[in-house]
Parts: sequence; C-alpha cells; structure tokens
Amino acid sequence: MNCGFSGVLTLEPHLPPSLINPTLHTRIADALVEQGFGVFPQALPAVFCQALRVEAVSAALAPAAVGRGAVRQHNPDVRRDAIAWIEPNSTATQAWLAWCDALRMALNRSLMLGLNHFESHFARYGVGDFYALHRDAFAGSGNRRLSLLLYLNPDWQASQGGELLLYGNAGGQLCRILPQQGTVVVFLSEQFPHEVLPAQRERYSIAGWFL
Ligand code: OGA
Ligand code: MN
Repeated sequence: MNCGFSGVLTLEPHLPPSLINPTLHTRIADALVEQGFGVFPQALPAVFCQALRVEAVSAALAPAAVGRGAVRQHNPDVRRDAIAWIEPNSTATQAWLAWCDALRMALNRSLMLGLNHFESHFARYGVGDFYALHRDAFAGSGNRRLSLLLYLNPDWQASQGGELLLYGNAGGQLCRILPQQGTVVVFLSEQFPHEVLPAQRERYSIAGWFL
C-alpha cells in the first residue's frame, strides 16, 4: 500500500510540516547500523527548540531518582538533575511526541527494531549538577532499547562544561558532545555508558527512550 505524502500527516496529526524530515530519519538509521550511535547538530528547528525550552523552564521539575522498583531512590552522588515527564499537554510537547513517534515508525520500517513505546522527560541541570557514569539499560533487560537526547541551550560555549561523554562497551571515550540547542543524540541504550559533566550554566535537555 502506498500512503504517499498525505499518509504521513494523517498518522501524525500533531506533527508540523516543518518537523517532517525523512533525510534525518535515514541518517539516524544509518548511524545506528554503522556505529550504534549518532550525533546530529541542528537536527530540529531553533523556533521549535525554543518552544520546548519554554515548556521545560515552566515544568514542575523534581529531583530525579536512580534505580528501579524497590531500590529507586534519590542519590545526589550519582545524579543531580531535576526532571519532569513529558505529556502531550501543549502544542510544543504534542509536536515533540509526534516527531519521536514518526522517528520510531521510520526506524521500525528500516531497521525492524520493533520499538513500540516512547517515554521522555525534561531535565534541568543547575550550575555544578552532573550525572555520573551510567547505562540507560542493562543487557537482557529488554526494556529501554534506544536512547534519544535533545538539547535546549542556545549559544552553549565549550568553556561552559556540561558535556555528554559517550563511551564504548570496552570503556574508551567515543565522543564529547556540547548540549547545544538543536543537537540530537541517539544511541543503543544497552551498549554505551555515558556521563554528564558539571556545567557553569543552567543546562536544559530532553532525555527519551524507545522501548
Ligand atoms: C539521562 C542522561 C544525558 C544528557 O538522562 O539518562 O544520560 O546529556 N542524560 O542529558
Ligand atoms: Mn543516561
């Protein structure tokens, strides 16, 4: 069946045409096949990132917990960000969730990943806040498959810290990413330990996971 152009809009009623970017879907899929991760500067329009930042700033952010189930707890030695789970309660968050869903379906088509759910939260790291080395999922747990980040900080300077450091499974550092507005990062959740370095400046981001 060929749904054609209008099919895209019908499937994602909240996805503005300015966010439809099949080329980016292809680049993300290729990066995942070739190296398991990808970094995409200016992946999303500045006006859209600014609208999401407004939502992040006004969200009811609360200290993030680490661990699962009964061992879930606040641990300021591990992470110090404050988070708010994203709900489709504004035009900007509806568009964000629609964009992620379109990406999910594109990756399912091209890589047959069978991703069937997505969850994401805004995060604010205050000055000095960090997230120590961790993985987003553990081998065999089969829960979080693919991690997705979007940064919401215009004009971030290298001197301001706050980088995401991504490591390979064997430990070597793979890349150092500034939390620059519009940069999208994707990586296979089980395979890439990572950490967030403390920043000199308030740092806003979205972290999401395909399950
Ligand atoms: C996370 C995370 C990285 C970042 O929330 O699990 O690793 O750069 N965030 O915000
Ligand atoms: Mn993480």
